[in-house]
Amino acid sequence: MLRDKVALVTGAGSGIGRATALAFARAGAHVAVSDIDVGNASATVDRILAAGSEACCIPADASHAHAVAELIAKTVARFGRLDCAHNNAGIESALAATADSDELDFDRTIAVNLKSVWLCMRAEIAQMLKSGGGTIVNTASVGGLVAVPQSGAYAAAKHGVIGLTRTAAIEYAQQNIRVNAICPGLTRTGMTDRLSRADPELLSAIMPPMGRMAQPDEIAQTVVFMCSDAAAYLTGQALAVDGGATAIWRACAPPFGLLRCDRQGRDEKPVRLCAARLVPVLPKHFTRDFRRVPTTRRSLQ
Ligand SMILES: NC(=O)c1ccc[n+]([C@@H]2O[C@H](COP(=O)([O-])OP(=O)(O)OC[C@H]3O[C@@H](n4cnc5c(N)ncnc54)[C@H](O)[C@@H]3O)[C@@H](O)[C@H]2O)c1
Repeated sequence: MLRDKVALVTGAGSGIGRATALAFARAGAHVAVSDIDVGNASATVDRILAAGSEACCIPADASHAHAVAELIAKTVARFGRLDCAHNNAGIESALAATADSDELDFDRTIAVNLKSVWLCMRAEIAQMLKSGGGTIVNTASVGGLVAVPQSGAYAAAKHGVIGLTRTAAIEYAQQNIRVNAICPGLTRTGMTDRLSRADPELLSAIMPPMGRMAQPDEIAQTVVFMCSDAAAYLTGQALAVDGGATAIWRACAPPFGLLRCDRQGRDEKPVRLCAARLVPVLPKHFTRDFRRVPTTRRSLQ
């Protein structure tokens, strides 16, 4: 699918980024593996080399302009060009409602999750223009499409990633550069392990209709598809790969609250719920009950 293409992945030392680096290599690409964590990035490279493909490790903090410029330069120095980029490095913000959230945490989350994508795209597009085109996939999140209670900075950054993606997509649509965002739902990685330790109830409370988290490779396969010629007409899109999570929320969650039903779907009553209460309510009234309840959308009183 990507034979002899050159692909770059940030945040490739772990989770979704590592899975994408491995999937790019299986698809025939030469892979520049980048992460702020040198040991983990090297481990990803070792796995690619052991499987007989080509890769190199280029440690970089994707939120620093100088480091990103060097990352692109080193990739081109090593492999001669850049065809595909997965801008994926990211962190979770501290769990806190808006009034309780911390400025340093906000700034760090925006720098790593949003500014890094802008820095990477800026350098990658400049390089791709020199060689006649390329494809970029930015990792957003379902948190770029809907609210994420207790994680305002994360949601803001991921909504911003989608804005950057759409803008670059139309700016370069006629120069053979496609730009899309992938919006993973819950995916089993270091990030979800940490969130689960911070709040043991959280993940089961927001489990999607499929009733399980994604494996990182299920996200990676979609990224490879989005970078391949099979997706030649795909640009400017934010593609949710989320086990149905946003399908429910869009169909059943009016802007000002949610309809809450009893377990059998008989005693349906409209209830206004503030964002902070969304998470505890979701499992009981959506992931279990929504199948038995008529799903036509009703407005709240
Ligand atoms: N896991 C999920 O449920 C989920 C859902 C939606 C979106 N995402 C997004 O997927 C991406 C990957 O997350 P993950 O779940 O694989 O988490 P992860 O923690 O396993 O991997 C994130 C990687 O990014 C690296 N990183 C962090 N800061 C960096 C920086 N400044 N520069 C370079 N690398 C840096 C980390 O070292 C780590 O290897 C993130 O953007 C995250 O927001 C994850």
